Order: sequence, then structure tokens, then C-alpha cells
Amino acid sequence: MSKQFAVIGNPIEQSRSPELHHAFAAKTGIDLTYSKRLAPLDGFDASVEDFFSHGGIGMNVTVPFKEQAFAKCQVLTERAQIAKAVNTLWVEDGVLHGDNTDGQGLVDAIHALDWSLNNTDILIIGAGGATRGVIYPLVQAGAKKIVIANRTLARAEQLVADLRDAVPQAELAAISLNDLAGEFDLVINATSASLSGDVLVLPESLQFTHAYEMAYGKPSSFIDQAQARNIPTSEGYGMLVGQAIESFRIWNGVKPNLKDFL
Ligand code: ATR
Repeated sequence: MSKQFAVIGNPIEQSRSPELHHAFAAKTGIDLTYSKRLAPLDGFDASVEDFFSHGGIGMNVTVPFKEQAFAKCQVLTERAQIAKAVNTLWVEDGVLHGDNTDGQGLVDAIHALDWSLNNTDILIIGAGGATRGVIYPLVQAGAKKIVIANRTLARAEQLVADLRDAVPQAELAAISLNDLAGEFDLVINATSASLSGDVLVLPESLQFTHAYEMAYGKPSSFIDQAQARNIPTSEGYGMLVGQAIESFRIWNGVKPNLKDFL
């Protein structure tokens, strides 16, 4: 029987993980089946236990269960501990393990664009779970300064206070979205603004040379403004593929090449 994998979430119909993992499997010659599991909002634990007790090898976790997955794991990787969220589960020695591959997915997507992260100054707009998950991997990849700008300044300040000790080699700072200014190598939009059709205004006082929108598939005022400046831009499909590849690597011990799947 082929190795069994699944992605669990609610809703789950929109997930592209099965098609991605089947494409990686075809490329690497691994025999697997990857399905979608819709869990009731109060049924995450039972669904995970059912999956692994029936021989499941690995699970991805998506909205709204990443924090519950974090709480459920007995062993966590360092980056999952820092993210306080888990998107990749597996059982080893009878014990549930968890990792978070979102941040590495973003780093790999940026590298696949041939943008360097070494010694960079980065501005991240947004201070939610998406931002929390990427700071440590970005610093590991060479970011030397990360400024977090948020509509609710206190949330950015809290995130900086929480993460400062995890990334002592980098400078972290928090600013209000109303005070966007300065020069950056890369600006990352980690807000959900484009998903709700809201506009982010990037003032002339903010200068930057690359722009990455974490969301994808929706019109983004952030990307429109960056393109008007004639700089390289990208949207989050590469990150989606990148996090899937990193999960695949953990489970199967083989890392497909991201550029083959863009
Ligand atoms: P996620 O887990 O995807 O990061 P989240 O925790 O809900 O989601 O965070 C959403 C982020 O988008 C927050 O930083 C939010 O700003 P606030 O903390 O001020 O709420 C930001 N956001 C959402 N809509 C926005 C908008 N229209 N303009 C600016 N920021 C927005």
C-alpha cells in the first residue's frame, strides 16, 4: 500500500496540498496518497488520532488548527516552538512530532527568485501568525534587520518582545503602519488586507527594492504599488510550494527542487 498523507483544516476544499504532493511524488518516484480531511471545529484531536492510528505517515495542518496542532505535539522543532504554530505532523517512536515549514517555504521561494537574503534589511507589514512564523527562518537565512509594521502597533511591539531572544544576531523593531518610512531591501506583506480587498498605502518615504506578497490569487494593492515602482515582485504561490516541499522532505527524506514546480 502506498504511504498515506493528508491535510487537515476547516474549510479544506480549497487546499492545493494534494496536487502539490502528488506532483513531488511523481518527480521523486515515491508511492504515496495524499488526501484532504475536513475536521469539525471541535474535532481536530480525534481526527488526527484516527489518521495516525490507521497507519497515516504525515499530516499538514491548515487554518484554523495550527495552534491546536502546536499544543498537541509532544516534540516540537525549534522553529515550531518559536512560531507557536505547527503545519507538519508525524509520529516517531510512538510520539507526535510537529514542525512549522511556512518560514522555510518563504525563504526557499525568495531564493528561487534569485533574491538574496544575506545581510538584508527587511520590512514586514502585519504582526499576526504569518509574521511570527517567518522571522526566525529569515534571520537564519541572513536578514540582519527586520522591522515589523502593524496597524495595531501594540501587536507588533509584543511580537518583537516575544521574538527578540530567539534571534539575537538580528535587530528587530516595531513601528505603526502610519509611520512607514526608510530604506529596505525587501518588503513582505504578511497582512490579510488583500484577502479582504483592503488597500495598503505605501508612501514615498518608504523605499525598497523587492516586494513579496504572502497571499496569492487575489488582487493586491501592495503588489500594484510595488510594480508601479518597477521593482521585482512576487506573490505567495512560491511560498505555498516551498512549505509543501519542506514537509515532503521531512517525511520522505528527499527535497524536490522548488523551481520545477513554479
Ligand atoms: P495571520 O495568522 O494570517 O497573520 P492574523 O493573525 O489575523 O492572520 O493577522 C492579520 C494581520 O493583518 C494583522 O497584522 C492585521 O493587523 P491588526 O493586527 O492591526 O489587526 C493585518 N490586517 C488585516 N487587515 C488589514 C488592513 N485592512 N490594513 C492593515 N492591516 C491589516
